[in-house]
Amino acid sequence: MEIIFATSNQNKVNEVNEILSNTGITIFSLSDIGYTDEIEETGKTLEENSEIKASTLFKERAVNVFSEDTGLEVDALNGAPGVYTARYGGPEKNADQNMNKLLTALQDKDTRKARFRTSICLILNEKIHFFEGVLNGSISHDKLGSGGFGYDPIFVPEGYDKTLGQLDAAIKSKISHRARAVEKLVAFLRSQKI
Ligand code: IMP
Repeated sequence: MEIIFATSNQNKVNEVNEILSNTGITIFSLSDIGYTDEIEETGKTLEENSEIKASTLFKERAVNVFSEDTGLEVDALNGAPGVYTARYGGPEKNADQNMNKLLTALQDKDTRKARFRTSICLILNEKIHFFEGVLNGSISHDKLGSGGFGYDPIFVPEGYDKTLGQLDAAIKSKISHRARAVEKLVAFLRSQKI
C-alpha cells in the first residue's frame, strides 16, 4: 500500500523507509508530493502535534496519511524539553545548540535518565488512530558519534554503552522510539487488510 508520511524531515523519512523495508508499504514524504507549506506545531502535547500535521494534510489533500512527533523527556528536568525538544536551544532548532543547553542543564544533576517518546497519528479512511513508541536511556556527559540526527550523539539507550550517534543505523532502526511506534502502525495497517 501507499501512504503519505507528513514530514519534510529527510532523516525521519530515511529511518522509516528502513523500518518499512519488506513490508510492502511505500511512503511519500511532503516533498515527494510537492507540499512545501510549513505546518506550525502549536500543540501542547506530542499527540496534538502529530494530529495537527496529519489532519492538515488530510483536510487539504483528502489522502490517507500519518505523521509523527517526537520528544525527549528528561527526568531531572521534570520531563522537559518534551514537546519543546526541537526548539529547546532556540528558535533556530539547531541540534548543537539543543544538545549544549541540555548538557549544561544536567551538569549538577544526580540522574541523567531520559526517554525518547514518539507519537504517530494515522488518518485512514477518515478515521484517526494513535500509536506510541518509547526508548528509555540516559544522557551522556559529552557528544559522541556522528550518526543519526538531533540528540542522538548524547542519548545512550538502556542496555548499551554507546550513544545513538555511535551505534549503527541498523541498531537504531530496530530499537528506537520511532521504530516501536512504526511497528505498531504496520501491525495495524496489516490488520486492516488494505
Ligand atoms: P520533531 O518531532 O520533528 O518535532 O522533532 C523534535 C526534536 O527531537 C528535534 O530536535 C529532533 O531533532 C529531535 N529528534 C526527533 N527524533 C529524534 C531521534 O530519533 N533522535 C534524536 N533526536 C530526535
